[in-house]
Amino acid sequence: MGRRAAKITASYIRNHPYASLGFATGGTMKTYFAELVREHKQYGLDLSAVRATFNLDEYYPMKSDDIHSYHWEMYHCLFDHVNIDKRNIHILDGSTDNPKVQCDEFEKEIKLHGGIDLQVLGIGRPPYPHIGFNERGSSFDSPTRLVELTEETRKANARFFDYKIDKVPTHALTMGLATIMEAQNILVLACGQIKADSARLAFEDPITEEVPASILQMHPNVTVVADKDAASKLEMLSLALLH
Ligand code: PGA
Repeated sequence: MGRRAAKITASYIRNHPYASLGFATGGTMKTYFAELVREHKQYGLDLSAVRATFNLDEYYPMKSDDIHSYHWEMYHCLFDHVNIDKRNIHILDGSTDNPKVQCDEFEKEIKLHGGIDLQVLGIGRPPYPHIGFNERGSSFDSPTRLVELTEETRKANARFFDYKIDKVPTHALTMGLATIMEAQNILVLACGQIKADSARLAFEDPITEEVPASILQMHPNVTVVADKDAASKLEMLSLALLH
């Protein structure tokens, strides 16, 4: 899955070297980033002209040099190993005193750079799979903002915090659903049995603000890369295989 998604991204960048890219973090992205680094190191993917990168979210509060930060994860897994110009990287600052100003500026930066051409996303766990940290009930019109994380999300992410939920921040800064929907192209990655219900809820069940990821059904240009387990409950997929 990671390799396929990296190949799609690499081919997009080869065709659009000045692209503006949106990245996501989390367990699903690990193999994707490793494969993207491989595209650069082994297959000469040049990222030097990428005009901007924007990350989906960051914990709040969170210092950028904390090893639990998405800032740290992005540099460690991708940015330190490819030739993206570091001046063009935009990650929400989880140590800001003024989240509102920070989020508004992030929105402005996206616009200033001509929007996001390719946004990569993971999806959260069922029964209300999120995208970014847009949790259950997030308005489809939501902009980049400070949000409170649900107990389920903090439980799911405790594995990155020594399995101690108390260590998982209670809040996060996240790109809004409206912001994500403005991206020209969206690439969704899903792997593992845990995401089988998420994929069905997101891509085949009714569109509702209760299920933030279901908004993606209204986007004209979404590519989903899923492994067999994550795709196992998609009816359209089994129909496609039958024919
Ligand atoms: P995961 O998270 O890749 O760690 O499962 C995905 C998400 O919450 O969007």
